[in-house]
Amino acid sequence: MQERWLFDELMHAGDEHLDPQYVAGYDHKAGVDPALDLALLRDLALAEASTVVDLGAGTGTFALAAAPLCRRVVAVDVSPAMLTLLRARAEQQGLTNVEIVHAGFLTYEHGGEPADFVYSRHALHHLPDFWKAVALHRIAAFLKPGGVLRLRDLIFSCDPPEVERVIEAWLGGAAQRAEEGWTRRELKTHLGTEYSTFSWLLEDMLDRAGFVVQHVEHDESMIYSAYTCVKR
Ligand SMILES: C[S@@+](CC[C@H](N)C(=O)[O-])C[C@H]1O[C@@H](n2cnc3c(N)ncnc32)[C@H](O)[C@@H]1O
Repeated sequence: MQERWLFDELMHAGDEHLDPQYVAGYDHKAGVDPALDLALLRDLALAEASTVVDLGAGTGTFALAAAPLCRRVVAVDVSPAMLTLLRARAEQQGLTNVEIVHAGFLTYEHGGEPADFVYSRHALHHLPDFWKAVALHRIAAFLKPGGVLRLRDLIFSCDPPEVERVIEAWLGGAAQRAEEGWTRRELKTHLGTEYSTFSWLLEDMLDRAGFVVQHVEHDESMIYSAYTCVKR
């Protein structure tokens, strides 16, 4: 793809994700527990021979937890600050099978055997829908047939007439302090400057990219969804 018209992923990565100070506090703020997703992928045959690619890996909570269970983990992110922390954590933990790649959904070039699993959590919403569809095609291209995409994101499982009620309820539950979660101001920044989409749009994109959705979880807030998809 020609660079001159490619979407600028770094410019849309979220300024906070490029800020080492924010990144240092990210894990405490996000409180991510990878256990359930790992258990789900193990049930789908993630094992010592597997290759896993984590797109938008951030500080690496999922990638580093997956590494002891599989052969190769590729952790991909556009943020140098995120990758610096991820690299330090991988070294601290003595993990030798984690490859750290500075790239985005639209620029990552997969080398070696096709991947068995692709994981992405709370990152795809940094792309507008046009580019999400392109990114999903790119993911399908480096997954093995039968390979699994586990995708979690802020994805609205409602229809446009419900948006106001859903968003107001979400904003009403925002964290008071930025260290403990996402504040009302941060949630409004997400709504105004990032690209969460409707589940029914995303599902069409997944289908067109060559995925069969095996399982969908829509959070009761209608803000978060998780998809387990298999490449046809
Ligand atoms: C909210 S964080 C999520 C990090 C991690 N996946 C997690 O669940 O904790 C979003 C991450 O996506 C990264 N990101 C933003 N745009 C991206 C893109 N186009 N390609 C790859 N990563 C991107 C950011 O740098 C950031 O690390």
